[in-house]
Amino acid sequence: MAPRSIIKGALLSALALSAPVTAQVAEQVSSTSGAGVPLFTSETLQLTEDALASLNPNQSVLFQFGNSTNSSLSARSISGCKVYPGDFFWPSKLVWSLLDKFLGGALIKTVPLAASCYSSWDEYDADTCASITDDWTNSNLHAADSASVMWPLFEGRTCLPTTNASASCTVGGYSSYAVNVSTVAQIQLAVNFARNAGIRLVVKNTGHDFNGKSTGAGALGIWTHHLKEIDYIENYKSKSYQGPAVKMGAGVQAFEIYEKANELGFSVVGGEGKTVGVAGGYVLGGGHSPLSSIYGLAADQVLALEVVLANGRFVTVTEESDPDLFWAIRGGGGGTFGIVTSVISRVHPKVGVTVTTFSFSTGTDVSADTFWAGVRSYMERFPAHADAGTYAYFWILNTGTDSFEFLMNPFFAVNHTLAEYTALVQPWYDELADLGISITPNSTYYDNFYDAWSAGFPLETVASSVMMTGSRLFPRANWESDSLFNSTFDALRSTISEGYVLLAFNLKAELVDGYPSNSANPAFRNTLLHAITSTSWDSDATNAEILEKMDYLTNDVLGQWRATCPDSGAYMSESDIQEPDFQQAFYGSNYARLYKLKQLYDPTNLFYAPTAVGSENWEVKSADGLPDQNGRLCRV
Ligand SMILES: Cc1cc2nc3c(=O)[nH]c(=O)nc-3n(C[C@H](O)[C@H](O)[C@H](O)COP(=O)(O)OP(=O)(O)OC[C@H]3O[C@@H](n4cnc5c(N)ncnc54)[C@H](O)[C@@H]3O)c2cc1C
Ligand SMILES: *[C@@H]1O[C@H](CO)[C@@H](O)[C@H](O)[C@H]1NC(C)=O
Ligand SMILES: *[C@@H]1O[C@H](CO)[C@@H](O)[C@H](O)[C@H]1NC(C)=O
Ligand SMILES: *[C@@H]1O[C@H](CO)[C@@H](O)[C@H](O)[C@H]1NC(C)=O
Ligand SMILES: *[C@@H]1O[C@H](CO)[C@@H](O)[C@H](O)[C@H]1NC(C)=O
Ligand SMILES: *[C@@H]1O[C@H](CO)[C@@H](O)[C@H](O)[C@H]1NC(C)=O
Ligand SMILES: *[C@@H]1O[C@H](CO)[C@@H](O)[C@H](O)[C@H]1NC(C)=O
Ligand SMILES: *[C@@H]1O[C@H](CO)[C@@H](O)[C@H](O)[C@H]1NC(C)=O
Ligand SMILES: *[C@@H]1O[C@H](CO)[C@@H](O)[C@H](O)[C@H]1NC(C)=O
Repeated sequence: MAPRSIIKGALLSALALSAPVTAQVAEQVSSTSGAGVPLFTSETLQLTEDALASLNPNQSVLFQFGNSTNSSLSARSISGCKVYPGDFFWPSKLVWSLLDKFLGGALIKTVPLAASCYSSWDEYDADTCASITDDWTNSNLHAADSASVMWPLFEGRTCLPTTNASASCTVGGYSSYAVNVSTVAQIQLAVNFARNAGIRLVVKNTGHDFNGKSTGAGALGIWTHHLKEIDYIENYKSKSYQGPAVKMGAGVQAFEIYEKANELGFSVVGGEGKTVGVAGGYVLGGGHSPLSSIYGLAADQVLALEVVLANGRFVTVTEESDPDLFWAIRGGGGGTFGIVTSVISRVHPKVGVTVTTFSFSTGTDVSADTFWAGVRSYMERFPAHADAGTYAYFWILNTGTDSFEFLMNPFFAVNHTLAEYTALVQPWYDELADLGISITPNSTYYDNFYDAWSAGFPLETVASSVMMTGSRLFPRANWESDSLFNSTFDALRSTISEGYVLLAFNLKAELVDGYPSNSANPAFRNTLLHAITSTSWDSDATNAEILEKMDYLTNDVLGQWRATCPDSGAYMSESDIQEPDFQQAFYGSNYARLYKLKQLYDPTNLFYAPTAVGSENWEVKSADGLPDQNGRLCRV
């Protein structure tokens, strides 16, 4: 049967159905898992063949599992576009309400977060609008919404907070519906439904992704935010590891696992960002951490995962059960191979940290050249600092003509006492003093990661609709030759002198000896600098003006960075959506294998996300011509 006729048949018979939903579609299964750690309660409620068989066939046809993982159905067999709102095959209200019943009422029809600001919406309410407007840059607001993302550019900048109640607000590039997931069965029902109906599917956890990978017009969203369970395992055993580990639900955020780790006295490799989803897109895309210079990437820590595949089946993925998928899913990117419901990751002993902040800038005693000599003296020490296991987050701002500011924001010296930290940085401090740059470092030693992280990394603001980012992983090789070092320094200085900001991390992220390899970007393995910059535009800029700014960032600004290390790459989760040859930049030499596995595990291309593996076969026909998700998703 051709996919199209399945869709048609399913939707038409569902329309014709009069049978009430009486059957229980989910089944309680045993909590035993091949991962050796019991399934979470949320994972023991599953969709099974028996459960499906108990349904009216006119209903169950919507929720049938896909054919075996490695189906003969070739990716090519779905042609054209995903079914879009307004299309003949778009599920009717009745079908959506049927889905909602099977989901136990967990289906949310998307109302844009700022709809309360618009009189055309029933939600119109001045007080709510005022509070949404006040909170707009707070990541918690967007994480707690079933469809909102933290980069409005990518949902098409529809329905932003406004004081003009008569302006227009559309659902735009937000998903049309989202499932507020609390069980595996709900994910399976939604996955099967989207695949059988031929509609777009997106996975949204917190919505942090820099490229809008968690949103899409006309999509059914799987919102994993409430999968919050955490289990500590004192002695986990796998093929290559024995020791303490933690099992985290897909919705667990950095601050939550850090609180738990602090309470139980261990350290976990998570991000610096407070609200990032540590067991979602963060870990699946690699995940750099304040602990990376010692322990590597977050993806490196993963020992097992529970996953719903594109065919709707729930599987446990370990090094032994499925070495290919185990390799691919750890680092190959979120929203690509399956929907992870939990991960089990190794954890580490409690560790002390010295946290330091300071700044210096041009001024009466510090010329621009002196300022840059100070920056250069810092950059020269990146190998020494990263090799000592430390992680530093610093900003360089252009504050006017020949006027610059450097912010250490903070220097995070893991496993360093105050004295050890001072010994490490004294040569740099001395050089700054010799240059006549005075600094007043504020250093504090904390005997645990949680307190250090809480003090060092404040909640960052999000949701600007007038900016986009780009980045580069500069390799160690750029420090090993004078001329390459000079071109690296010159490229960064030139970017900032042109008026762009630099937000950067001095770190390393090598795979620790004995850890199983994974698909994280090989460029991470020899980097010493993950540098991010951004471009911005006026709020009344035309689309053509915005595109021009974006292209300049992509080609010229980042082009200078790329020229210093053409074989390196960039970190997919904090990157430029227009990155040229993203396959090489985000995946490097892993791409061919990842692409092959993508065809195997997701032969119908259920999962699509911009710049994800296999995304080159699709394009979003965006309404405004910008690289956003507000439009129909079609095969190229
Ligand atoms: C303020 C801020 C701070 C940050 N700090 C760091 C940092 O310190 N280190 C770092 O490495 N990165 C950091 N990031 C980048 C972050 O890793 C990415 O934004 C990442 O995509 C976030 O994952 P998420 O699940 O929270 O977000 P989402 O945007 O919800 O999801 C990101 C992608 O993963 C997919 N996905 C989410 N959950 C699942 C799941 N359960 N199964 C399958 N796919 C899933 C989504 O479909 C999407 O493609 C930061 C970002 C921001 C905005
Ligand atoms: C799955 O395979 C069966 C036969 O093995 C076939 O009848 C059916 O059409 C296939 N379904 C899809 C979605 O390809
Ligand atoms: C399924 O739908 C068809 C019409 O499309 C109807 O004739 C048939 O009775 C339905 N079957 C059941 C079991 O409800
Ligand atoms: C697909 O599965 C069959 C068995 O069902 C196996 O023989 C074959 O090798 C698999 N193909 C790939 C590419 O893994
Ligand atoms: C408010 O929006 C409407 C509709 O887009 C527009 O016609 C009007 O000019 C706007 N008013 C102001 C004050 O911007
Ligand atoms: C989503 O589900 C959780 C329970 O898992 C519930 O607490 C929350 O209120 C729901 N949110 C929405 C918006 O429906
Ligand atoms: C911390 O530093 C000490 C030396 O001061 C070293 O022996 C130890 O291995 C380090 N711990 C880690 C986890 O790197
Ligand atoms: C130094 O930093 C700590 C946080 O680490 C902060 O609480 C304190 O106020 C800072 N002191 C000064 C003088 O800025
Ligand atoms: C690198 O730059 C420094 C400082 O400007 C200069 O002294 C040195 O000669 C340069 N080295 C090379 C190989 O260009």
